[in-house]
Amino acid sequence: MSSTLFRTKKVEQSILDTEEPEHALKKSLSALDLTVFGVGVIIGTGIFVLTGTVAKNNAGPAVALAFVAAGVACALAALCYAEFASTVPVAGSAYTFSYASLGELPAWIIGWDLVLEFALGTAVVAVGWSGYVQSLMDNAGWEMPAALGSREGAGDFGFDILAAALVLVLTFILVLGMKLSARITSLVVAIKVTVVMTVIIAGAFLIDGDNYDPFVPKQQAVEAGESLQAPLIQLMFGWAPSNFGVMGIFTAASVVFFAFIGFDVVATAAEETKNPQRDMPRGIIGSLLICTTLYVAVSIVVTGMQHYSELSVDAPLADAFKATGHPWFAGFISFGAAVGLTTVCMILLLGQTRVFFAMSRDGLLPRFFSRVHPRFKTPHRPTILLGVIIAILAGFTPLTELAALVNIGTLFAFVVVAIGVLVLRRTRPDLHRAFRTPWVPVIPILSVCASLWLMINLPAETWVRFAIWMAAGFFVYFLYGRSHSRLGRHEETTIGQIMKPPRGDAE
Ligand code: ALA
Repeated sequence: MSSTLFRTKKVEQSILDTEEPEHALKKSLSALDLTVFGVGVIIGTGIFVLTGTVAKNNAGPAVALAFVAAGVACALAALCYAEFASTVPVAGSAYTFSYASLGELPAWIIGWDLVLEFALGTAVVAVGWSGYVQSLMDNAGWEMPAALGSREGAGDFGFDILAAALVLVLTFILVLGMKLSARITSLVVAIKVTVVMTVIIAGAFLIDGDNYDPFVPKQQAVEAGESLQAPLIQLMFGWAPSNFGVMGIFTAASVVFFAFIGFDVVATAAEETKNPQRDMPRGIIGSLLICTTLYVAVSIVVTGMQHYSELSVDAPLADAFKATGHPWFAGFISFGAAVGLTTVCMILLLGQTRVFFAMSRDGLLPRFFSRVHPRFKTPHRPTILLGVIIAILAGFTPLTELAALVNIGTLFAFVVVAIGVLVLRRTRPDLHRAFRTPWVPVIPILSVCASLWLMINLPAETWVRFAIWMAAGFFVYFLYGRSHSRLGRHEETTIGQIMKPPRGDAE
């Protein structure tokens, strides 16, 4: 039995699958395209919204250090991801990588995790988008009824109707097969980076040094009775649940980690990259470096503009300008954020259909999911099904709870990828690796430790939700995937009826 659980799909077969002429994606992306695509998908709700939330609740101005900590964990993971992406240059990201190295069950776990990452990530970004649209409406003097506004911190029943509407509209667009052209992607990236630079440069003149005192606020005990909301590490060691202080920085890091999600999506474009062996690592690491620098600068400026305890949790970057008497800047920032977040949302939604495709192409999910629409040639069934579920989740769930769940799933995927690098070096030393993770096994081991560290700094309730999700995954695999796997049934993996996902997310 264990041999079937760990059967691996040959790397050469994975590459072969993508070379069938009728299913091949055009190899047109350069390292610069990948970096632009990376920055396009990475900068989003993390910096635009979570900065304010975690500064206010967990870390104060030290949120800048939280970004550094999360950035280091991502850089370590990126070095492992880059080796995988340049060795197994096919669609599917960590799912495909682990199918080639660790075996079917780990690959299934990763694929299942990636669905969580992309689906809930879409919801998080949609909720962030809604916060900025509401801030923009506020500039124009319109206000959403409370029951239809943000869910963050809201006690009573409510539904974030804007977030849900955005997901449904994007789902519809994806079903129709409309794509983001390269020109639109670059334009949106330019708008987003301009907005972030505006926050940094204009905001720097509005800093009040007193707001940095204290830079690392003193540890504060939280009320008893909310123990599941405390980070797992505090419960593991029997500490009294608390916020702020040094541990608060790590709690914040485990949440703002969300701001870096997306560099792994860049790896999914390997199949469309001109020279994946060289350009993929450059694209991934380049976009990560740019984003980390911007995040640290933004968080230092914003916590200097407004005392951390007063930051808004819905649209903190724009609202800090409002609070310092610059509504015009606030309007510009809200507008840019709304435009930028729309594309992040769309790319994540599309990323999810890719993983579904890769999984159903391998027979681990029903063919039902890979049958395309006769006219639009898009995977309309999973897109609509998941789009509706995501819209409902985005409407009802507070943003930080969703983000924490996305993070735990993604961090877990990073752990598996880092282990995969070690395993593949041993089992397939012969494979050509244009990019080799330096200092193996030190970097992969550090990457595993860093990811696990951030994971245990997430709330215990996030672990419970994650455990439920994974249990459901095992259930589906043993009930369906294991017996329907094409690898298991010794089928040729290049049969014609399996359709490729529509291309275009990174064109
Ligand atoms: N990193 C992306 C964001 O912050 C997903 O929205």
